[in-house]
Amino acid sequence: MTISREPHPPVAVYPGSFDPIHLGHVAIVERAAKIFPKVIVAVLDNSAKGSLFSPAERLEMMKEIWAGDPSIEVCSFNGLLVNFLHEVGASIVIRGIRAVSDFEYEFMMALMNRHLYPDAETVFLTPREEFTYLSSRVVKEVVALGGDVTGLVPDPVRMRLEARLGKATHPPTR
Ligand code: PNS
Repeated sequence: MTISREPHPPVAVYPGSFDPIHLGHVAIVERAAKIFPKVIVAVLDNSAKGSLFSPAERLEMMKEIWAGDPSIEVCSFNGLLVNFLHEVGASIVIRGIRAVSDFEYEFMMALMNRHLYPDAETVFLTPREEFTYLSSRVVKEVVALGGDVTGLVPDPVRMRLEARLGKATHPPTR
């Protein structure tokens, strides 16, 4: 087996649905940016997935977070992730693993991506402890039921969630 060495500094891609992005995701991106000189956060452009926010809305919210940080780029992709990796010249995939329950799905994806693109490596990062239980699904459910997700999602995302789900009850934090 030969492991190729990239001539350029490695570009890492952090793919996901991000519907919407939460602070667990943000922490993973920032952790990845300490390891890799360039991190591309890639939103799956899949309108058929029954998402709350359109890919364009998700992209806009995420671009706001890292505006002005040239080492972190946000863009969308559709189709196979490996095709996107080729397109942007990346072979590193970042994924966060929160608990053992994530493992089977993540393992399957990593192996499938490696089957499709043998040079692709998936790097698993662990979340900050306080975000271990966090998921986009739970965040949406809490807001839909009138709960406060301050400190769990970026403030602009929280305000959009509350507006979208008709629960604008929590003032912006300072
Ligand atoms: O945030 P998610 O929903 O867990 O992210 C899943 C994602 C977007 C990373 C995954 O569904 C994906 O890579 N989709 C693109 C299609 C693809 O490449 N499938 C083959 C790998 S299993």
